[in-house]
This record gives sequence, structure tokens and C-alpha cells, in this order.
Amino acid sequence: MGICFSSVKDQHSNYTHASPQGDDSVVSSQAPSRTSNTTPLASKNVKDLRQSPGYINVSIFTYNEMSLATKHFRPDLILGEGGFGVVYKGVIDDNVRTGFKTTQVAIKELNREGYQGDREWLAEVNYLGQLSYPTLVKLIGYCCEDDHRLLVYEYMASGSLEKHLFRRVGCTLTWSRRMKIALDAAKGLAFLHGAERPIIYRDFKTSNILLDGDFNAKLSDFGLAKEGPMGDQTHVSTRVMGTHGYAAPEYVMTGHLTARSDVYGFGVVLLELLIGRRAMDKSRPGREHNLVEWARPLLNHNKKLLRIVDPRLEGQYSLKTAMKVANLAYQCLSQNPKGRPLMSQVVEMLGSLQTTGNDELQSGEGGVTLYEAPKGTFGTPARKRDPNRRDGERGGEARRRSKPGNGGSKSEPMKDIDSSNLSPDFVT
Ligand SMILES: Nc1ncnc2c1ncn2[C@@H]1O[C@H](COP(=O)(O)OP(=O)(O)O)[C@@H](O)[C@H]1O
Ligand SMILES: [Mg+2]
Repeated sequence: MGICFSSVKDQHSNYTHASPQGDDSVVSSQAPSRTSNTTPLASKNVKDLRQSPGYINVSIFTYNEMSLATKHFRPDLILGEGGFGVVYKGVIDDNVRTGFKTTQVAIKELNREGYQGDREWLAEVNYLGQLSYPTLVKLIGYCCEDDHRLLVYEYMASGSLEKHLFRRVGCTLTWSRRMKIALDAAKGLAFLHGAERPIIYRDFKTSNILLDGDFNAKLSDFGLAKEGPMGDQTHVSTRVMGTHGYAAPEYVMTGHLTARSDVYGFGVVLLELLIGRRAMDKSRPGREHNLVEWARPLLNHNKKLLRIVDPRLEGQYSLKTAMKVANLAYQCLSQNPKGRPLMSQVVEMLGSLQTTGNDELQSGEGGVTLYEAPKGTFGTPARKRDPNRRDGERGGEARRRSKPGNGGSKSEPMKDIDSSNLSPDFVT
């Protein structure tokens, strides 16, 4: 594709919007207006990026250097694979580039056969090159020699959350670790949403949350990130992209993207952390395929909740805390986007629930075993806040072509949307 920066004129609002990815965004607004006091992130195209990295602390590497760093892309150094391509473990040191301080890295090479091309590569370079935050993975450099497109990130020694949460044996994710990971990831989203011009991450899921050696979590994979609405705009309209099971229903139906779509994705991951099951799992009985459809109606009933919390967490949490987390997930997963909390509120809530080490049960709340049925009036506020909820209803609006079942999920365009439900400004 090779384009990076383009201006798309919105037929409806007559507003011209610069998009870092140069993709198909259309900015919509209820009351069109120019907002002059916001600065969109800079955006460079492949030609710019070949000439100079442009961003502080980001290096340009040659393909030969990438090959040396990964021992010629040795298969046993593969860390993972997503929709973009294969990710290798590597080392950049004096042998790779004279004078380079030895640094462990992860190197992602664009799969040129795939449908995701320069657009995603550019989004990653342009966003991660400019954003610096403790819970966002660092971009160390990139390579765009000839047709090669690679990204060099800081190495996250413990790999993805997906790998740990869904491993069959030896899951080391304790309750307190899970809550810390949820908080770290929430901070990442809150940072993006709170930027001068909000950024919508659009692909929040366990395989895009990476863990360092101390299990601190960071968001990686900015291939689908987009500038969000600003000023009076209510949303941006985009081609629907993301991962089956995580995308907000209204986004899938209309292509209208807001920060609240990320909040929904966050709710799905919080549910996965709480229940220990994948967002989509075709190996389960039919009604349990989609985690949100199956579990959300059960979250506001403490007895039912205790039956579905990840059994591997037995004895590690208090009922009161589990109910608070379940209620938070319930609200994030509201069908009504406005019924979802802001990520800043999620951060506040999760911050108040943090415990260190093994002190979950010493908080004075009284720990419970899984099958006790304590009294409680859990869930009433959430119901009030979301009167239009449609629990039990088929939430299968999130239809998309991604790898089903137990396998990892890949980010994809969702092509099989019922076009009769699309709003007029939906862009294909
Ligand atoms: N910085 C990193 N450190 C360690 N592992 C990584 C890193 N980046 C990616 N990975 C591994 O590679 C997988 C795919 O990476 P991701 O950036 O999500 O690629 P894609 O854009 O193809 O989805 C991740 O789920 C993770 O297992
Ligand atoms: Mg990914």
C-alpha cells in the first residue's frame, strides 16, 4: 500500500481529518466544527521513515542487521505469531551494529502474503514511535528496506497474557497477579484515551498484552490503533477490524468507533481473567462458545459467580473483591456504550482492589471458599445503569472471520457484517 498520511473529507460534516495511517477513516460529528487546539500525532510514510527515524530513541535497521539479530530468523527463536507476521527473539549488540549496547529485543516481520500490510506497520511505527508510557511496549526501531517491513520492540520476557492464562497445566497467574495485569493494561488504555487527541487501540485481547520478567503488563501491537473522535465528534467511522469475541457489538454493527469500544474489549479480557476461559471457545458446549454471552448474565448473582470463577484461583480471593471485579466486567460489557465506565474510572476501581502477594484473604473481608453462598445485594447498580441490557440474547453481532476454538485469535477485518445494519457513513 505504501501510503501513510492522507486527508479524508467527510461528506457529512465537511471536516478534513488527517489520519496517521492514511486509511479509510471518516470522522463524523453531530455538530460539525473545526477544532484547532488539538494536535494530531505526527504521521510519517514509508519514504519519510526510510530517510530518517524521525522519532526520538527509534533506530532504523537494515535487513542484514535484522537477520544477524535473529540468527537468520532461526525458527527456534520464534516467540509468537499474530495476524501481522512472525515475531522472533533477537539480540542487538556490537556484532549487529557497532557500538550498540546489548539489548534483547522482539522482532516482528511482516508477512507479505497476508492482507495486513503497510497500513498496520505504519500505524505501529507512528504510534509507538511517539508514545512513551510505562504500560506500552517500547519501539526500539524498525526496518523498511526494499519490501521488508520489520518492527523491533523491547523484549517482554514472560510473553503474552494469552500464553499464561490459557496454559493447560502450571498456570502461575494468581489472583493478585491477574488484578495487577488488569490494572496495568487498563492504565495503558486510559493513557491512550486521555491523549490530546484520543487514540483507540481497537484490538485489546490477551495475546496483545505482554508480560515482562516481573509480570508487569504492557500493551503491544498497535497495528489497528486509530485516532478517535475529538471535539464534538461522537465517533469515527472505519472498516470494522478486530478480533472475534472482543469487538464491541455496536462497532461491529455500525463501524462507529469510540473509546467505549476499547472498554468493551477490556471487559472481555477482565472476564477471561476472572473465569479463566477464552473469549471464544468452540470446544465448549454450544451455549458456552461465546464467553460474554454465557457468563455476563451470571456475574450479578454471587452464587452463580462463584461457580464460574476460574477454579485455579480457589481460596485466593475474597467474595467481596470477586463481586466487585465481576460487577466491573459486567459494566464494561454493557450493550449500551454509554453504560460502560471510562477507562480512567476502571483504573481507579482496579487500583482500589489491588493486593500484594498473598494478602487477598487478610483484608478483613473474610475469604470464602468457592462454594459458600454468602449474602449480598450484588449487581443492583449495574442493572439500574443498563436498563436495556439483553442478557442471554445472542450477542453474536461480533461476527468475524477469525480462528475459532481454542487457538489464538487473530485480528482481521470482519467482512461478514449484515450490511442492512450499517449506518450510511460506514466505510468498506
Ligand atoms: N515484545 C515482545 N516480547 C515478547 N514476545 C512478543 C513481543 N511482541 C510479540 N510477542 C509475541 O508474538 C505474538 C504476536 O505479536 P503481535 O505484536 O501481537 O503480532 P501481530 O501484530 O501479528 O498480532 C504475541 O502474542 C507474543 O506472544
Ligand atoms: Mg497481535
